[in-house]
Amino acid sequence: MTTSKNIMLLAGDGIGPEIMAEAVRVLNRVGVLYDVDFTLAEGLIGGCAYDADGTPLSDETLAIAAKSDAILLGAVGGPQWAKTAYDKRPEAGLLRLRKDLDLFANLRPAQCFEALADASSLKREFVTGLNILIVRELSSGVYFGEPRGIETLDDGSRVGLNTQRYTTHEIDRITRVAFDMARKRDSRVASAEKANVMESGLMWREDVTAIQAADYPDVALEHVLADNCAMQLVKNPKQYDVILTDNLFGDLLSDVAAMLTGSLGMLPSASLGASGPGVYEPVHGSAPDIAGQGLANPSAMILSLAMALRYSLGMGAAADKVEAAVAAALQAGFRTGDIMADGCTKVSTKGMGDAILDQLGHT
Ligand code: IPM
Ligand code: MG
Repeated sequence: MTTSKNIMLLAGDGIGPEIMAEAVRVLNRVGVLYDVDFTLAEGLIGGCAYDADGTPLSDETLAIAAKSDAILLGAVGGPQWAKTAYDKRPEAGLLRLRKDLDLFANLRPAQCFEALADASSLKREFVTGLNILIVRELSSGVYFGEPRGIETLDDGSRVGLNTQRYTTHEIDRITRVAFDMARKRDSRVASAEKANVMESGLMWREDVTAIQAADYPDVALEHVLADNCAMQLVKNPKQYDVILTDNLFGDLLSDVAAMLTGSLGMLPSASLGASGPGVYEPVHGSAPDIAGQGLANPSAMILSLAMALRYSLGMGAAADKVEAAVAAALQAGFRTGDIMADGCTKVSTKGMGDAILDQLGHT
């Protein structure tokens, strides 16, 4: 019997629609290969949603997304919205989606494909075989803490204010995700915070220590200051298995880890809640400078689709197959501009999609 799944597509801005088109071609092929009927619903998020509806994520779109089985998201943002009010900015739509669906666990794997080991800014020996998982808290911390704002003081000068805030419950649930993930890998967690200067970091460290002692004695735990973690990532990245960290440090560390793998154009992510659909999006942004030209690398979007298959759609074998197809397309020498190397075949966004589909095969 054919199963059916509802997929929400939020392509967003910039290169979002181009890379989403390739992910949809792969999704349709997976549907044929695994006899699954994917029903696709398209919605607007980010600057395009603001232009159309006056809001970067409408209640209607959010409601449809919440009822879907998985949400694929391209990218949001662009220079044309730089002066838009803060709560109407493209990024606000993404943050609302994360917050309202309570997507607290952001999984950002940084894996170096063998074919791309020379594309990294680090020497090959430091990155070959690299396989790190960053587990980033996504629905709290300084991104959402109150009070926040820009206020004018009595003397007319201004103060900009954001609040770093974590409850025990918020630390507990993201910590358990990191330890559970580690158990499926090399059973090592490095927890990154700034316990040396921030009370929220000290409490984070205490809580993570207690959870490990009580429930995960089989997983090795190391605490690392977030600045040192950034340094270690460029010094000797292969020392890490799972990195557990908060929202802001996770934003920074995942960009560092991404570059180790050769290109931001290769990195997928999954944002998961306790229940309901996950959001699957590339770590890279909307790349307005190359939008609409067929230059973007669709790999991160397609690898995000693989994560959706694995974590929201119960299709682990299909996820493995898509990931293997991406690796094989690289191995066969197909490259978008961001990862182009001597002797390889330079292809467009669609050309890369074709190369990956070729590797996926037909029924
Ligand atoms: C990311 C992005 C977002 C973030 C922006 C677009 C709001 O940088 O997902 O890493 O800061 O979380
Ligand atoms: Mg970021």
